[in-house]
Amino acid sequence: MLRQSVHAFLSSADAGSLVEQAFADRRLLKMELTRLPGGLAEARARYGSEGSPSLLVLEATAPPARLLAELEALAEVCVAGTNLILLGATNDVGLYRDLIRRGVADYLVLPSDPVRLIEAVLELYQDPTQRVAGQVIAFIGARGGCGSSTLAANTAWQLSRQGNADVVLLDLDLAFGGADLAFNLDAVHGIQAVLADPERIDDQFLGRFSAKYGERLHLLPGPGSLDKEVRIAGTALEAALTALRRQARFIVLDLPRQWTEWVRQTLHTADQVVVTAEPDLLSVRNGRNLIDFLAARRQLDQPPLLALNRVGGGRKGEVGQKDFAETIGLTPAVVIAEDALTFSQAAAAGRMIEEVNRRARAVEAIHLLGTRIAGAPAKAAKAATVPAVGAKGLLHKLLGKG
Ligand SMILES: Nc1ncnc2c1ncn2[C@@H]1O[C@H](COP(=O)(O)OP(=O)(O)OP(=O)(O)O)[C@@H](O)[C@H]1O
Ligand SMILES: [Mg+2]
Repeated sequence: MLRQSVHAFLSSADAGSLVEQAFADRRLLKMELTRLPGGLAEARARYGSEGSPSLLVLEATAPPARLLAELEALAEVCVAGTNLILLGATNDVGLYRDLIRRGVADYLVLPSDPVRLIEAVLELYQDPTQRVAGQVIAFIGARGGCGSSTLAANTAWQLSRQGNADVVLLDLDLAFGGADLAFNLDAVHGIQAVLADPERIDDQFLGRFSAKYGERLHLLPGPGSLDKEVRIAGTALEAALTALRRQARFIVLDLPRQWTEWVRQTLHTADQVVVTAEPDLLSVRNGRNLIDFLAARRQLDQPPLLALNRVGGGRKGEVGQKDFAETIGLTPAVVIAEDALTFSQAAAAGRMIEEVNRRARAVEAIHLLGTRIAGAPAKAAKAATVPAVGAKGLLHKLLGKG
């Protein structure tokens, strides 16, 4: 079952018992509560080095004037999609309005009734118009074998760990995808189920049709055979993604290199696109075409994240990094060296790079890619249908990005 995580930084006994009582009923709030010592300053220090959870409950102890500045500092370190409920002793309508305007989900005056807190949380997570809206991250390669699927899998795993977040990985390379092998899992045919019945997607449905890797990564591999042709209908995929956005913080798509309408459409609507390329001429040419396509179709979005992979592999005609960036018109977000030993070990074991070699140079790049993705605001256009938490949530409004 997918669970959202909540971190509570509380100092007073009133706040402690309020939060404990509200989250005690696991049927009502299916959330994992972690209580942590301290307040805003401690939260800020913590999320400076690790991903913030889906929901933060914080007891504010600073006077109102300082509180807003402290919140702003906190906003800078939290990932997109973190919601904040504040508890405090100041009973002041002006302060309440100020906080809500800045994207705080709710402010409860202590002592408060646990029912109020439950209501505030339910409003965030259960109202269909205000549900948690995960971000869709589409991975595509500029050429065959450049490592797009490997990076999609490793980044999905990294996102599930760094942000205490549920992540779903969809292997959309139906004929040739290898997500099941990359994680050494029995095929569970998840993609077919999801595409056949997108309106049935809920946490139980996912529990049945996805395979879990670690605590929070949910895999939907392809059929792993060529026996029958499974076609992807754009509408079914769109419906599936809408449903999955409600179930997980990140939905990572491993796209095949096919230039079909549904692939173009998915590249158009994803919150982020990661283009993986190798330092060779074919990647430069195809990568440039992809980047131009994305720039034209996604005018309101940030450019894609470019992952330059397999650098220094000793292949003939390798394009230098500077030339590569200039010709393609985009600076790589990450550069990953060729490391045949580690990558083949990981592939053979069905494990992630970090699991087979923590010191591999690719590990740092994958962390960086995860941070770039998690730090990106959710796409504003989605707010019309499923308000993205990042758009409503604290942090982007506070930073003036909401
Ligand atoms: N930096 C690297 N160093 C060495 N080997 C790598 C590196 N990155 C990926 N590989 C290896 O390259 C092979 C192809 O990777 P992968 O399947 O992820 O590429 P792809 O772009 O998804 O390919 P396809 O076009 O078939 O979908 C795999 O065996 C993988 O382990
Ligand atoms: Mg692939």
